[in-house]
Formats: sequence, C-alpha cells, structure tokens
Amino acid sequence: MRLEGKSALITGSARGIGRAFAEAYVREGATVAIGDINLEAAEKTASEIGAKAYAVKLDVTDLASIEAAVKAVETRTGGLDILINNAALFDLAPIVEISKASYDRLFSVNVAGTLFMLQAAARSMIARGKGGKIINMASQAGRRGEALVGVYCATKAAVISLTQSAGLDLIKHRINVNAIAPGVVDGEHWDHVDSLFAKYENRPKGEKKKLVGEAVPYGRMGTAQDLTGMAVFLASEDAEYIVAQTYNVDGGQWLS
Ligand SMILES: NC(=O)c1ccc[n+]([C@@H]2O[C@H](COP(=O)([O-])OP(=O)(O)OC[C@H]3O[C@@H](n4cnc5c(N)ncnc54)[C@H](O)[C@@H]3O)[C@@H](O)[C@H]2O)c1
Repeated sequence: MRLEGKSALITGSARGIGRAFAEAYVREGATVAIGDINLEAAEKTASEIGAKAYAVKLDVTDLASIEAAVKAVETRTGGLDILINNAALFDLAPIVEISKASYDRLFSVNVAGTLFMLQAAARSMIARGKGGKIINMASQAGRRGEALVGVYCATKAAVISLTQSAGLDLIKHRINVNAIAPGVVDGEHWDHVDSLFAKYENRPKGEKKKLVGEAVPYGRMGTAQDLTGMAVFLASEDAEYIVAQTYNVDGGQWLS
C-alpha cells in the first residue's frame, strides 16, 4: 500500500472524480476526509467507503470553513499529509452573454477556493514540519480557450499557473504541488455540461457527450477510475522529486 498511514483531505469528494480518489486512497492505506459543501452527500459517501473515510463540512469559498476543515483533519488524524483541490464549478455561455455572477461563482470556487485551501493546507504542513503533497485539479480546458467555455477555461488556466507558483514556493518545505489535467470524464458533471451544450448548440441531449467521447484519441470518454493511478502516484513517495507540474490524463487529447 502506497499511502499507508497518510492523512488526506479531498475537496468536493462527495461524488464524481473526488469520490473515486477517496476510494483509491483508502485502498492504498490512507485515512480520507470527504470535504464537501454538501455535507449530507459527504456523510453518505464516507459511510459507503468505510471506517477510513469521514465527512467534513467544507465550503472552499469561505476562509473560516477552510480553517475549520483543516483543524478537523488535524484533530482527527494528527496532521494533514495530502490535499487534493478537486471541488469546482462549470458554466457555459457565449462571450457576449457571460454574466458577472457566473464569473464570480466560478472564480471563487475554482481559483480562490484552490488558492486559499492550498494556503491553509500548506500552513498546517509547514507547522508540522513533515512536508506533504498537494494536487490541484486542472483540466484540458486550462490548456486552451474554447468558444463557449471562456470562464471555466480561464479558471483552469489559473489553476495551472497557481500550481507552478505554489510548487516553486513550497518545495523548500518539502511540499510537492502538482496538478492533473483530465480531458472529458463521464459522470454527473458531464451530464450537466451536455445539457448546457444542448442549449447553446441546439443539439439533442446526449449528442455532445457522444461526439466528445468519439473524438478522444483513446476512443472513449475517461472515467474517474482512469485518473486514480495518477492521483495515488502524485501523493506517494515516488513523486518526491516532481515539482510544479501539470500532468495530462486525457486519453491523448492534449500533447504537452
Ligand atoms: N468531469 C470532467 O469531465 C472533468 C474534466 C476536467 C477536469 N475536471 C475537474 O475535476 C474535478 C472534479 O470534477 P467532477 O466531474 O467530479 O465534478 P462534480 O461536479 O461531479 O463534483 C464536484 C463536487 O464539488 C462539490 N463542491 C462544489 N462547490 C463546492 C464548494 N464551494 N466547496 C466544497 N465543495 C464544493 C460538489 O458538491 C461536488 O460534490 C473538478 O475540479 C473539475 O473541474 C473534470
């Protein structure tokens, strides 16, 4: 087991990719805090995963909530070893229709949420003096803009940039900050994305999802399980010398 005895906090892990990460980390021996704004869903997920998972109420847009979540992890496990900044929101609109409210919502969760969660985790790790691993969830959307996806793409480009800056600043404390850039991953999130594309591109529901899956060089959409190997690796001792990188795990979508 590669994460034996480690304590992890995964934001937005009540469902989707974050939940798959939590399951994989528990299989590798870690204790995992399921941090989510939806506490009821987080509690259900934690109870389904088992005794090494526990729910923590967390709103990554609220500094007091972030502090309380880190404190809860410290109290429960003695200290934080691994953070995955996974919580994020998506929206879609033509540039001339983007609202300030949508911009504020996405930037506050995807960018400010990532930065201040990372900051609180890093402070805790520095005070403990044992280093740590921080993994940010970027996206292929952060590698280039897309006509209808302006705000989300900008938030994920910001996540890649913050990963570089934080990675370079925190490695002196033996805190490795890296990111994963998935392509298109099937699940409830993409059901929402598909319905937004149906609206703006005037398509039947399900068509966009089918098309994007067929366009992946691997030949299908990703699954949350396709990402867990990288998430375990980046949190493990094997990734000790990896600093400030963003890894594509996307079936060949983006080449860099
Ligand atoms: N699904 C994809 O195709 C895809 C592709 C590329 C990148 N990603 C990224 O992977 C990550 C996970 O995606 P997913 O598809 O599992 O998303 P999802 O929408 O299924 O899950 C997001 C979770 O975050 C929680 N959340 C929302 N706001 C929060 C807040 N303020 N504080 C705490 N928790 C909050 C939600 O309750 C939910 O449980 C995201 O960062 C996403 O941008 C996803």
